[in-house]
Amino acid sequence: MSPEAERRGRVLSGIQPTGELHMGNWFGAVQNWIRLSESYDCFYAIVDYHAITASYDPATFPAAVEGMAVSLLAAGLDPEKCHLFLQSEVPEHTELGWILTSLAPLGQLQRMTQFKDKSGDQGEAITAGLLMYPVQQAADILLYKADRVPVGEDQVQHLELARTLARRFNNAFGETFPEPQPLLTEAKRILGLDGQSKMSKSKNNHIGILDDPETIREKMATAFTDPQRLRRTDPGRPWVCNVFTWHKLLSDPATIERVDRECRSAVLGCYDDKMMMADILSETFRPMRERAAELRARPERLREILAAGAEAAGAVARETMREVHEAMGLWQTKRSPATA
Ligand code: TRP
Repeated sequence: MSPEAERRGRVLSGIQPTGELHMGNWFGAVQNWIRLSESYDCFYAIVDYHAITASYDPATFPAAVEGMAVSLLAAGLDPEKCHLFLQSEVPEHTELGWILTSLAPLGQLQRMTQFKDKSGDQGEAITAGLLMYPVQQAADILLYKADRVPVGEDQVQHLELARTLARRFNNAFGETFPEPQPLLTEAKRILGLDGQSKMSKSKNNHIGILDDPETIREKMATAFTDPQRLRRTDPGRPWVCNVFTWHKLLSDPATIERVDRECRSAVLGCYDDKMMMADILSETFRPMRERAAELRARPERLREILAAGAEAAGAVARETMREVHEAMGLWQTKRSPATA
């Protein structure tokens, strides 16, 4: 690690390869990732090994991974300022994952809220991979000795496990890992088009940052507003309207004030407001659509960026694993036992 990077501290985060970024990812996470790249040594993994804990289609998976990489770069993640890579291209992730599995308290894993939610009513048919998911996540983080991890609220419990595992390792084998702290993203979670649940691709309530303007209009037409505003002439209540919360994120102060006033006085109808929002979204994300088209036209460039990311990540990962093996007393033929 260069002295400069050492002073700045390490950041690691991961994102599932869902094929595209949506507005929620953008405001909730990726904007922050870009900001952090300015002042920290940042590693960002597309976590394909995490994704395989849920059912998926091998035929469409490569496109989903590629689509996420394109989205992140199109959104403005700068490969000159951070390391973007595919988790499965740095095999040390699973290697450290196994080692941490041997230290992980089963009870703490079984109590994970996300595990309980995801396992639903599957009972014993649930895979061990889903149970181990947070251990693998801890390995992602500790492999880089990251001390800061930008995540949403829903990952705080997983970070707690990462700290437990860092402590357990350090106590058993000597001080090796810093205890990683979550960096909670400031942006409140973005609700989906249904105005009820967090925006997510699996709920199909999302606006993709790369959606074309026509798709955005079609999706916005289905967006929920104020459920009590039944007729066009009814006054609206912007304070309960999800589309209004988007104005607060995206519109200039004058527009926010006008929408607020004209909604309350029924001058502005919900449909017109939604179409206004569709235009605002299309404009906001236009540069990203353009960058994505450029990247798609040069697939070799995308592969180069990810390969360079995996190379840089791999160098750090190999060094950490060397220390880990040594600390744990795993003798390996490439090292003489005496030198440790
Ligand atoms: N579990 C995270 C999520 O679903 C993704 C993830 C995997 C991650 N490994 C990570 C996040 C390491 C932060 C650090 O959003």
